[in-house]
Amino acid sequence: MPLRRTRLRSRPAAALLAGGLLTALHVPVAVAAEPAAPAAAPEARVAPEQAPDIPVANVKAHLSQFQSIAAANGGNRAHGRPGYRASLDYVKGKLDAAGFTTSIQQFSASGGTGYNLIADWPGGDPNQVLMAGAHLDSVSSGPGINDNGTGSAAVLETALAVARSGYQPREHLRFSWWGAEELGLVGSRYYVSNLPSAERAKLTGYLNFDMIGSPNPGYFVYDDDPQIEKVFKDFYAGLGVATEIETEGDGRSDHAAFKSAGVPVGGLFTGASRTKSSAQAAKWGGTAGLPFDRCYHSSCDTTSNVNDTALDRNSDALAHAVWTLSE
Ligand code: TRP
Ligand code: CA
Ligand code: ZN
Repeated sequence: MPLRRTRLRSRPAAALLAGGLLTALHVPVAVAAEPAAPAAAPEARVAPEQAPDIPVANVKAHLSQFQSIAAANGGNRAHGRPGYRASLDYVKGKLDAAGFTTSIQQFSASGGTGYNLIADWPGGDPNQVLMAGAHLDSVSSGPGINDNGTGSAAVLETALAVARSGYQPREHLRFSWWGAEELGLVGSRYYVSNLPSAERAKLTGYLNFDMIGSPNPGYFVYDDDPQIEKVFKDFYAGLGVATEIETEGDGRSDHAAFKSAGVPVGGLFTGASRTKSSAQAAKWGGTAGLPFDRCYHSSCDTTSNVNDTALDRNSDALAHAVWTLSE
């Protein structure tokens, strides 16, 4: 059964430590974060490992890089434009340096070449694969920092946190960055439709992050797989922050292809062009009567168009879900 909350740990503590050292050579302090298995009873059921707190400053540093990439490439990171490929090369460089196995999947759409980036964390059960992803392309009218630099950066920083901590999950972890989402979910559809059915059957879940730092944020959880939904809701309940079910367009992001293929999906969202109600402003703060993101698909979707608290909470929620669902 995938998505289990506790597991039988079969590796002795020494092997865990060695794995941590090997995968975290450049960050020796991260080894301390790996809890040792009980010395006398390595087969005993142990408490789930805790996801690390994702440093929001690291996530914001990736956003600054996306902004610079857009500025150097005509103001956007759109499909078929040089800013898209530069964004992909930036993310891939970080993952390669951290020990991920990366691959670029090429496709064509609207007369341009598109790319998906797939990053596998070595290890875990090859027959149980948990995925987390985000679209990396912007619209052509702006740099796309909330949409979807935020999801892209938070997925990247979670992947890097996996590497830093030397986490050896029970399930295999795969992270993905999709091209041409803004042209109609093209990259993620291409990935799912080209995945052999035997590979598709190994996917225990797909977690999607598209717009998770809206400047006037709401806290929306996708109402899809109940077990995934509960992991996100429980995280937010622990923070004492209310959530609502995402309703601003079911199927309007990259989880759609996975859902159609029968993969359990879930995700987070802080709102796009819809208006925040007074009831929502009462529970979340922000401004009633204004959109969640007044710069949605506009040139003003810059690093100024991000709410740091929402980005921090959702980055931590992402890591929590990846850890909880893969251990
Ligand atoms: N995917 C849309 C975009 O990139 C944004 C969006 C609208 C969205 N409604 C959504 C994302 C609901 C996730 C869930 O422009
Ligand atoms: Ca954090
Ligand atoms: Zn968008």
